[in-house]
Amino acid sequence: MDIRLGVIGGTGVYQLAQLQQVQGIELETPYGKPSGPVRVGLLDGQQVAFLARHGEAHSVAPHRINYRANVHALHQLGVQRLLGINAVGGIGERMGPRVLAVPDQIIDYTHGRLASFCDVEGAKVEHVDFTHPYTPALRTALLRAGADIEVRLVDRGCYGATQGPRLETIAEIARMRRDGCDLVGMTGMPEAVLARELGIEYASLCLVANWAAGCGDAEEITMDEVMENMAAAIGVVPALLSALLRRLA
Ligand code: HPA
Repeated sequence: MDIRLGVIGGTGVYQLAQLQQVQGIELETPYGKPSGPVRVGLLDGQQVAFLARHGEAHSVAPHRINYRANVHALHQLGVQRLLGINAVGGIGERMGPRVLAVPDQIIDYTHGRLASFCDVEGAKVEHVDFTHPYTPALRTALLRAGADIEVRLVDRGCYGATQGPRLETIAEIARMRRDGCDLVGMTGMPEAVLARELGIEYASLCLVANWAAGCGDAEEITMDEVMENMAAAIGVVPALLSALLRRLA
């Protein structure tokens, strides 16, 4: 199977309607089961593998996702380039609702997640380089794909990964802002580092669903607001994926 791109879809992205001749593949990994079947199909004539991070019925909370099984399953299929699509809250000025951003840095605030393939009795410990957590070449391809079809993507930003499933307090977001975070989400880690451990190129397309706590005018963050903004932001994803595949061809 010569898969050009793997895609892990987050909140609001449970399938790729563009995929043709789709095959659902149930995989087992040494780390357990992924969130659901990997859907492999053709997108503009190229093989793409898609996995819904939270399961196709959004039944797996961020802190309970088996990130290792998800990344390993795609690796087993031969995925060498992986795009994570992540719903996020906006902290930085440029990161208002419905913005699409391609972050270049990460701060990991999660805890207790199985965050390494070394985290197994007897496994050899490796300290992977993570200076640039997202693969520069894949980020660049994605940004160029956006430019090709005149979709505005915000280039760069620091993704702060929180534990969830609850949203953050105003004080937590204020701290994250002081730390330099522009975006906040619950699923960016350990996915990015697991891809790195397996030598898979990885980039993230962040869809801003809401101003993070205390950043906008809203007194609280409602799921209606999140879903409405996600639905609006998701609209360009199919065209962006096609453009990315043309860049990768
Ligand atoms: N915080 C964390 N994760 C999120 C948010 C948020 O405000 N919005 C969407 N995912």
